[in-house]
Amino acid sequence: MNTPLSPADLRARKAAGEPLVALTCYDAAFARVLDRAGVDILLVGDSLGMVLQGRETTLPVDLEAMVYHTACVARGRRRALVLADLPFLSYTTPERALHSAGRLLQAGGAQMVKLEGGAARLDTVRRLGAEGIPVCAHLGLLPQSVLRHGYHVHGREPAEAECILQDAVAMQKAGAQMLVLECVPEVLAAEIAQALEIPVIGIGAGSRCDGQVLVLYDLLGLTPLEGEPPRFVRDFLTGQDGGIAGAVRAYAEAVRARAWPSPDHGYA
Ligand code: KIV
Repeated sequence: MNTPLSPADLRARKAAGEPLVALTCYDAAFARVLDRAGVDILLVGDSLGMVLQGRETTLPVDLEAMVYHTACVARGRRRALVLADLPFLSYTTPERALHSAGRLLQAGGAQMVKLEGGAARLDTVRRLGAEGIPVCAHLGLLPQSVLRHGYHVHGREPAEAECILQDAVAMQKAGAQMLVLECVPEVLAAEIAQALEIPVIGIGAGSRCDGQVLVLYDLLGLTPLEGEPPRFVRDFLTGQDGGIAGAVRAYAEAVRARAWPSPDHGYA
């Protein structure tokens, strides 16, 4: 049994200037493929509500579904860090978050939990940290707040950009061990990655973050056909002959070479 990567390992990789490769993952079979292809972080994202359960948003995903899929992923990996999403309404208070995160760690085998939001979540990050639970913050586009704020690029206006930067700094200060930035302009993401010591993982945030994450099914060309896919989606499977493992390796190599995302897959 190999020792999985720890939050400290991820931080050391940032300090060494080595980009981190993350993908969403929801089961043991894919966990094995991704782990052996060198993916560093397996994110059991609540996106599973949309890609696996066929729902319109991530909001209906409950804690037990997250625990179930996290446990499946944890059984399939050897080296990658397992990061699990706290689902909608499972962290409305610090104590509720502690219970939910505890389930993801104890029954699911996660090593870190992710929560969405800025200033309003600082007490929760501190509470989890006080119990030794590593937390990843998530800023920019927040899928759990989509009914209120919609799906669009966040941080184009100077005031909003400053607010995201301040939230990022405050999250690190409160003890967050990592940050996911979703759908923000590349220059803002680069400024935040430079300002923080913790790794900043981008999705739709340009190539100057400390790592990248994608939804696995998007990488495999399984994005639903209705409507225009987001700019940061790319099919790495079509046109190469290494099958699923080859597509994952191609993505990992592109991230490590900072060749992904290219400017036309990011936002100004
Ligand atoms: O749930 C998820 O897949 C995520 C990514 C979009 C970062 O949170």
